[in-house]
Amino acid sequence: MSKNKLTADQWDELNFPRPTEQEFDRVVERAISRRGFLGGALAFGSGAAVMGTAFFKGSTALAEGGMTFPFEGIPAFTDNTIHVPEGYEWKVLVRWGDALFSDAPAFDPAKGIPAAGSDRVFGENTDGMELFSIDGKEILVVNSEYTNNDINLPHAADGIPVSAEDVLTLQNLQGVTVMELAEGAEGWAPIIDSPFNRRITHLTPMTIDGPAAGHDLLKTEADPTGTASLGTFNNCGSGRTPWGTYLTCEENFNGYFGATAEVDYDEEIAKGYKRYGISTKAEPGSYNYHGFDPRFDVSVNPNEPHRAGYIVEINPADPTSTPVKRTALGRVKHENAEAVLAADGRVVVYMGDDERGEFVYKWLSRDAYVEGGDTSTLLTEGQLYVAKFNDDLTGEWVALTPEATGMDAAHIAIFTRTAASAVGATTMDRPEWIAVNPTAAEAYCCLTNNSRRGTKNDDGSLKTNAGGDEMAVNAVNPRETNNYGQIVRWRPAGEDHGADSFTWDLYVMAGNPTLNAEGPYAGSANINAGNLFNSLDGLAIDSTGMVWIQTDGDDSNADEYVGMGNNQQLAGDPVTGEIRRFLTASFGAEVTGLTWSTDRKTMFVGIQHPAAPFPDGEASLPRSAIVAVKRTDGALVG
Ligand code: FEO
Ligand code: CA
Ligand code: CA
Ligand code: CA
Repeated sequence: MSKNKLTADQWDELNFPRPTEQEFDRVVERAISRRGFLGGALAFGSGAAVMGTAFFKGSTALAEGGMTFPFEGIPAFTDNTIHVPEGYEWKVLVRWGDALFSDAPAFDPAKGIPAAGSDRVFGENTDGMELFSIDGKEILVVNSEYTNNDINLPHAADGIPVSAEDVLTLQNLQGVTVMELAEGAEGWAPIIDSPFNRRITHLTPMTIDGPAAGHDLLKTEADPTGTASLGTFNNCGSGRTPWGTYLTCEENFNGYFGATAEVDYDEEIAKGYKRYGISTKAEPGSYNYHGFDPRFDVSVNPNEPHRAGYIVEINPADPTSTPVKRTALGRVKHENAEAVLAADGRVVVYMGDDERGEFVYKWLSRDAYVEGGDTSTLLTEGQLYVAKFNDDLTGEWVALTPEATGMDAAHIAIFTRTAASAVGATTMDRPEWIAVNPTAAEAYCCLTNNSRRGTKNDDGSLKTNAGGDEMAVNAVNPRETNNYGQIVRWRPAGEDHGADSFTWDLYVMAGNPTLNAEGPYAGSANINAGNLFNSLDGLAIDSTGMVWIQTDGDDSNADEYVGMGNNQQLAGDPVTGEIRRFLTASFGAEVTGLTWSTDRKTMFVGIQHPAAPFPDGEASLPRSAIVAVKRTDGALVG
């Protein structure tokens, strides 16, 4: 019998043979029934005690009856354009290759952007973004996560670079873009040559700060101090600090490194490469940076990968500022960085490590944030924690200290995954974005999927993460072969994000109730035929408390994904759990990155890696883009 055909009881029996903890069964029950969803929400109450500052928009109790949706959910689509509900409109803000400066090269609809001037245009594959109001101007900071090499390098077989020029093109089209925007008669557009405009690429000088700075493992021939590196890599999700800086999050940094020769590596370094997926095989890989730029050749520069995988702080107000790699926040495959203030004003940053069986982290600063005060140590001095989600719906933040991990502070910062494994953190189903609700003391985290959850190797042992931690089915990751994903929500003790314990529930388990009448693959009761989706990823909660969910999943619209259509953005009510489909992307694209104009009348949504021509039609290559979504009546959108 296939896993999709099991009833809830059969599934439960298979995974949790009795007698086991009865509470455990109740957790799964709660996750998959409407009764459970409501019960969970009520049990937690609806209090609100997020520290009130202008930045975090104050605190208001959740409305007892839930949210008012200002739109009807839209159907699934499978076409090559974007759909939004009646009463809304969308326009392109900016596409890969659009000029930021008047000396930028023109975009060639067949070939993209040439190497010369490739750092003068908007980068490819838009991802996390935040909008800042600086001196009354709208400044958007956006990540460009990776490049579709076959599109960027049409002359190269499989898009694998064949020259230093090819490598430079790819290096320039990733990283971060800072740009000023303005809204005119034709809608929103970047202001070409604004003094705020800036490209930060794989070559931009960075400062390394925190416990790993200056450590031997970060020293290279070019930088014997171990405190100055070049470039920020695979910039995935985003974050913003209360003091107005941007946080860019280095995710799959491992993919840019490779080797030109088989050499022997120091044991500690080799172990780290294994945990983080850095290849030492003498082959080009997909980026082949190391074929032309020795900095990325680990057989020559084994420490260079230790200088990536961090949260990087960027000051959008000063285009000449040097970005800072904040190693105190750990080195993992960072998804995003959601900052909030603890009750006493200390800075909390929630972070997910997106890989199968990796962990959820929390930073807590030593000192409180004071408006206008010194913020230079708030992401340097403090404590990093990792989450344990207990099956009884409680959880703890376990401090990654030298005593708890057996590692010194520098090693905890560099090999953070190893430190988290040492304290028995809960292996998760690929933690993607985390978002804090500004209207209630709670945080949400997308667990996108984990096809290996609860599955076994040929010898009967459970599959593990790259560090050997088993990925058994548990209450927070309750589904074997989890191809759909779920959102875990935690509420800190005392309604204080600085607390070291919390309670949690599952806000939603995606699924397909049109194929499975019941059981874990049906999804939770807030999934229905009208809002099907899989692989939730991007996440943001607007000033009203509406939970915006973006997907990066299987858009085949077939088999277990039938009825889900293209990737999409949905809106969820935090109290009732109702979820409606708001936007559908063009085919092949993921929806990722969400921010608002200062007046909250425009929502900016990222459309990454479209697979078919978009948004310029058949005559052009597919182009990742940011779209501006507004209500036609000019009302607020979040
Ligand atoms: Fe860049 Fe985990 O998404
Ligand atoms: Ca993502
Ligand atoms: Ca994803
Ligand atoms: Ca992506």
